Amino acid sequence: MSRGAGRAGGDAPERRSYEPCDLKRAYAAFLRRFPPYADTARIDELRATEYARLGRAGHTYLDYTGGGQYAESQLARHHALLSEFVLGNPHSHNPSSAASTRLVEEARAAVRGFFNAADDEYEVIFTANASGALKLVAEAYPFRPGSVFLLSYDNHNSVNGMREFAHAKGAAISYVPVRRPALRLDERALRRALRGVVPGADHLFAYPAQSNFSGVQHPLDWIDAAHEMGWDVVLDCAAFAPTNILDFGVVKPDFVPVSFYKLFGYPTGIGVLLAKREALAKLHRPWFAGGTITVASVQDEGWYRLAPPPAGFEDGTVDYLGLPAVIIGLEHLRAIGMKTIHKRVTALAGWLLAELTTLKHSSGAPMVRIFGPRTTERRGATIALYLLDPEGRPNDVYEVEAAAGRELISIRTGCFCNPGDGEVAHNITHDDMERCFSEPCAIVSLMECQQVIEDATGKVPNTIRVSLGVASDFGDVYRFMRFVAGYRDRVAEPIG
Ligand SMILES: Cc1ncc(COP(=O)(O)O)c(C=O)c1O
Repeated sequence: MSRGAGRAGGDAPERRSYEPCDLKRAYAAFLRRFPPYADTARIDELRATEYARLGRAGHTYLDYTGGGQYAESQLARHHALLSEFVLGNPHSHNPSSAASTRLVEEARAAVRGFFNAADDEYEVIFTANASGALKLVAEAYPFRPGSVFLLSYDNHNSVNGMREFAHAKGAAISYVPVRRPALRLDERALRRALRGVVPGADHLFAYPAQSNFSGVQHPLDWIDAAHEMGWDVVLDCAAFAPTNILDFGVVKPDFVPVSFYKLFGYPTGIGVLLAKREALAKLHRPWFAGGTITVASVQDEGWYRLAPPPAGFEDGTVDYLGLPAVIIGLEHLRAIGMKTIHKRVTALAGWLLAELTTLKHSSGAPMVRIFGPRTTERRGATIALYLLDPEGRPNDVYEVEAAAGRELISIRTGCFCNPGDGEVAHNITHDDMERCFSEPCAIVSLMECQQVIEDATGKVPNTIRVSLGVASDFGDVYRFMRFVAGYRDRVAEPIG
């Protein structure tokens, strides 16, 4: 159908334009449609005070799965604390060291309290980020021939990368696929895979509580099912924890990585591995470092006993100046309430999904394709999509990101370090991928790989992602819709 032509035999689709002058009316309609949002008005106050910089600069921030936003008071409280205390390296007994040790232990207790992780059940190990937490597990897990490392397709690359340690120790690697269009895991295949291992060896199953690509939330009762069949479980909560309640009184995964900047924006560079004590006891660390052992000798080349956790798993000096900011960040989230944050982003995501999926070109052709669930059922507020032209061709995601950027809208594009979801979403086969990995091949970047696949198959293996978080408001999603509506009837430029 030619550009701008009417829909044969039907009414012209409604043209929503999302003009600034219509915002008030749209907001009132939104509140009628999503009444629980009204309970989150406290965040609107915070948006005008604690997060005022977003509005001052005219920003529309839609990349919370990439990184959270911090409140002004987090910075002020952290600064005040650093100004007040004299803090030194915690590995000693002098007063400045003791003060740091106290704050580090307070941070540990705050993390434990926030996630309701019982002291006698879970260890709190500070790392640089979620990836660091995953590497701690991967390098020390007792993989051996006979072990299986089972992963869902929609893991982040920092989980996929764990397979290199499993490979090196002779373990088998197995993946359970996700299925189009909702990108949910094939549960029957999962049950088969969980049942199909020989007892005796150690087996590890890793999946995300929420996909950082599609927003899909997987059942947490898989953890108990896997335990019953003899597996240890890594539950990647990096994308889940910022807007959902994670309660270790209810769910009992063995290893859970989290990055704090994704929860409350500041500080960056601190993450945590929450590990069940009995699962932690299975791990054999491949090296030692300052702080992780009791005794080492140069002359004897010996080293004795890993220090008990958490010290035995915290290489070198922890970020003792940054950790008080974790306490402050957790207190900030607690004061708002995770239930409130969850309610708010769910309502906003519900509206966004409904608007995106009803938007049409003049021809009646859909303007948006969603990769993942089209409603808020069993999903978080992370939405992967294409903007389509009237012929159904995707607009170049990098061009879209640049155009959004010109309006100070921060969205994310690419594959989000989640190749499995991307491959299934875009129907990229094993043979397609092989083009990037077979010899001779001069591919050195993701862009080049995407171009090779696209040239050969016409498939466009990259995506747009918008994600909501602690400071999101209706204005953010409304402005994004206005931006999207600007693509109505626009013919996509050839990509590349
Ligand atoms: C689901 C998931 N897992 C792990 C990570 C890795 O987190 P980090 O880069 O903070 O180590 C991310 C980052 O986006 C993620 O979304």
